[in-house]
Amino acid sequence: MKILVINGPNLNLLGVREPDVYGSETLADIENWLNEQPEADGHYITWFQSNHEGEIVDQLHSTIKEVDGIVINPGAFTHYSYAIRDALTAIDVPTVEVHLSNIYQREEFRKISVIKDVCIGQYFGKGKNSYLEAFRLLIR
Ligand code: DQA
Repeated sequence: MKILVINGPNLNLLGVREPDVYGSETLADIENWLNEQPEADGHYITWFQSNHEGEIVDQLHSTIKEVDGIVINPGAFTHYSYAIRDALTAIDVPTVEVHLSNIYQREEFRKISVIKDVCIGQYFGKGKNSYLEAFRLLIR
């Protein structure tokens, strides 16, 4: 399978950013770790990170007929980006939403995900394992 992993705003600062919430590993550490998991064997995985909503929308559009599945951590866009939600609906590629932290046990505004309904699954609160669970769901 060809799988695209998309990370949204501020996730480029993992390792530095609120380590008590997000851990001490960088995004590159998580990427390397996931790529080395036995589940990743034989699959073609690409990673994309952007702090810009429009760039994420463009990246989603570019997946049409190119990618079999998407893992997305939209960061704060999770909670209000109808543009990302609409792009996911438009491209119709199986997508799994992930979060490092447990968005349901934090501030009220984080409890709302506007993309949840257009994804085939949602994993949260498991740190980097949220990505692995999402990956497993896609290849299953
Ligand atoms: C996050 C949770 C979001 O609420 C937050 O804005 C992030 C990271 C997570 O992975 O836990 O940037 O998506």
